[in-house]
Formats: sequence, structure tokens, C-alpha cells
Amino acid sequence: MSELTRLREFLNELIPSEDQFQRLYQNFCAQIRKGLGAKTNKDADTKCYLTYVQDFPHGNETGKYLALDLGGSRFRVLLVTLKGDRDAELVAKIYDLTEKELLGTGTQLFDYIAKCLHEFVCEQKVEGEHMALGFTFSFPCVQTGLSRATLVRWTKGFNCSDTVGEDVGVMLKSAITRRTGLKIDMVAILNDTTGTQMSCAHRNPACNIGLIVGTGCNACYTEKVENCERLDTKYKDRPKIIINVEWGAFGEKGGLDHLLTDYDKIVDKNSLNAGTQIYEKMVAGMYMGELVRLITLRAVNENLIFAQCKLRKQITDILTKKPNCIETKVLSDIANDKGDDWPMVKDVFKDIFHLHDADPDDCMKFKYICDVVAKRAGNMLGVTLGALVNKVGESFSIIGVDGTVYRCHPNFDGYMRETLDRFVEKDRKYDIMLSEDGSGRGAALVAAVVHREYIERKS
Ligand code: GLC
Repeated sequence: MSELTRLREFLNELIPSEDQFQRLYQNFCAQIRKGLGAKTNKDADTKCYLTYVQDFPHGNETGKYLALDLGGSRFRVLLVTLKGDRDAELVAKIYDLTEKELLGTGTQLFDYIAKCLHEFVCEQKVEGEHMALGFTFSFPCVQTGLSRATLVRWTKGFNCSDTVGEDVGVMLKSAITRRTGLKIDMVAILNDTTGTQMSCAHRNPACNIGLIVGTGCNACYTEKVENCERLDTKYKDRPKIIINVEWGAFGEKGGLDHLLTDYDKIVDKNSLNAGTQIYEKMVAGMYMGELVRLITLRAVNENLIFAQCKLRKQITDILTKKPNCIETKVLSDIANDKGDDWPMVKDVFKDIFHLHDADPDDCMKFKYICDVVAKRAGNMLGVTLGALVNKVGESFSIIGVDGTVYRCHPNFDGYMRETLDRFVEKDRKYDIMLSEDGSGRGAALVAAVVHREYIERKS
């Protein structure tokens, strides 16, 4: 048997069968049903959080808003000008997050956010203006209204102390007052998926699903209020509400066991939040590079790649001793590499392994490993997205998407569509729309819509 055939066999457990996809679909639908139910919610891993976003953009929103975006690898402050006509103008500044912010105390984190916000409004010369602010905070929160959000758990690379169980809106407001004395109205806290859905709905009202495939992975969708048992009747005068599924947590109760490999289990075990966010660890940017590292390491040990390479020992050492030495960006960078030349794979080998004369066969094999990991993620996401399209129940759904993995990987969209096409019910149609800065524009839109709603209720 050729080495490539042996490698293919070795990777087979990462290529789900039709039966496994079917089980994924069924298990996921069962979790959503549990998540929505009042009595069953406590047993669900997809908590289906109520966002209290019940009004959608009309497209004619105007005005200047501030937005904060916390939750990915970078923190951003934005000034968003909604111009009517479904148009918006954004000025954004990125601020670094160091270990001190990611892993320190919550107060340290919010003080830092307030300091950046202060700096930004001064630079933009808007410190004297009384502006509404939308806070995109991309972590699971129990909300009791648009501007009240209690953090349930940190995910991704964050793990600040003294924050879980606290209202992050209150923490933000008191940090702003303490540090800046600025007059800012924090009117809404939202998830990045909600921001993405809102920003796409601003351009096309048929958008009823929001998806992020970035550092983390999650989705939200528009649900009918009658299906939301946990929603207080006072919110049932409007027909719909956005539900933040928090599907990254799917699998914590065993719903993905039939798909989990040893690599997935090791990634989970070595993570900041072992035992949680199981689905996220199979499909999101924070983890896919690490999966590739673990798979490649085992493949080297089984003589399936780099078998004849003179740096074999050095490569094994690097793969063993350097967790995260393969970034998920690599999967996107090499996805279109072809032929005998493999320029992108060779660059990666130089960077990571200091290998300068790579064998084309090893290049092909490494690319194959990367493709298998990305395809599994895209295909699985297509299945759960299909479940949401069917759950929404419209004849036509638009899925608004953002996130580095989706944006940068040339084949990711295709991988998702492969399974979406199979799982979306035959009488429904869907399309995928790339969001234009969901976290910023979306936060401003929620702020604008809240303002409109406030005026409408008063009159
Ligand atoms: C994580 C967070 C979730 C967020 C997603 C994408 O899964 O828990 O709230 O939407 O990452 O950033």
C-alpha cells in the first residue's frame, strides 16, 4: 500500500460519514429544542440565550454611535455613522490585548476598555457629545434586557477572574465613570453573531441567521416569540426575537461523541476551558491549527509523512514541544497551493520546521491533512446551519457570516454549502452573505433600533 493511501486511511476518522452527519443533525436539533424549553433549558448544552433584539433595521437609520467590540483576538473601538439608505461609515481603532487583560481581573479588563474608549473619543474629537454606545461582548451571557448581561462563562482565550456571574454592562459603565467621567449611554450589549445578523439585515431584510467562524464559532437566528417559553409575556407583543444559540458549547453532554477523535480530546484537555465548548474546538480558528499539529505529529511517528526527511527528528521535536506552532492561518494560506512547486507549503515548512528543501510528497500530504481538518469543520457547520435554516422555517433565508476562518479560507464557503445543500429541506432556499463589520455596524444598528423603539413607545 502506498504511503499516501496509508495516510488517507489514517485520516479516515476525520472524514464523517453520511450517518455521522445525520446523527449530528438530529442531536443538534434535540439540543435546540431543549435550549428553548423552559423546563429543559438547564439540561441543554446549547443554551439558546434570549438577546432581546426584537426589532430589525429599516435601512433608514441615521446618527452617530459608538461601538465596542470585545471577544476575538483584538479589541476595537468604533465610531459608526449611519447614513440612511442602508449605508454606514466606520472609523475604527484596534487595541492590543495582552495576558494582563485576557487573564487578569475583570476590573483590570474593563478599566483598560474604558481607557481605550477615552483615548479614542478624544482622538475623534467627540468627547463632548452625548452618544449612545453598543457593546459587542462575544461570550455567553444571560440577558434580562438589552443592556443587562450576566456573564455565564469565559470562552476562547479569555479567563478573567471576578467576572463570571457579574453584569458586564454594570462593570463597563462603572469603569467608564471611574476612568473617564464621559457621558456615554450604554444602550445595548450584544453578541457578535447578533451584530453580524443585524448588519446583514440592514442591507437585506431576508437575513435571519448570523454566523461567526473566527477565533470562536457560534450562530444566532430569528425565532418566533411563541416558541420561546422562557420569554416574559411582556416581550411577546412583538412577533420575533433573535436567539443566541451559543452552539460552541454543543457536545458537552455527549452529542458529538460519535465524531470526536483522540486529537479533539487532546485539544480539549490542553485548553483553558477543558470539558466545555466541544463543538467550538472542532470548528473554530483558535483550535484547527492545533488539530493539524497533533495529527501531523502522530503521522510522523507512524512514518506517514517526513519518513525520509533528514530533519525528521527536529520536526518531531518541534511538533512535540511547541503547542500552537501551527496557526489556523496556515490552513487558509496553503489551501490553493498546487502542483510540483508547493510554494506556500514550503514557506510554512521553512517558518515552522526550518526545513529548506521539502519533498513535494510531504508538501502534498501536509496540505491534505490541513484540508481534511478544514473540510470537516465546514461540513459540520453546514449541517447545523441547515438545521437553523429549517428551524427558521422561511422559504428563503440569508445567513450573514463573519470571522477570519470564513473570510480567509478559500474553500470554506464551499465546504459549508456541500452539507447545507443536503440538509436544508427541499422547499427552502438559502444564501450566504458576507457581513461588513458586523460587530461594529451591528452594535450601532442595535443602538439605533433601541432608540427608535424608545421613541415609538413614548409616542
Ligand atoms: C465563542 C463565544 C460566543 C461567540 C463566539 C464567536 O463561542 O462563546 O459568544 O459568539 O465565540 O466569537
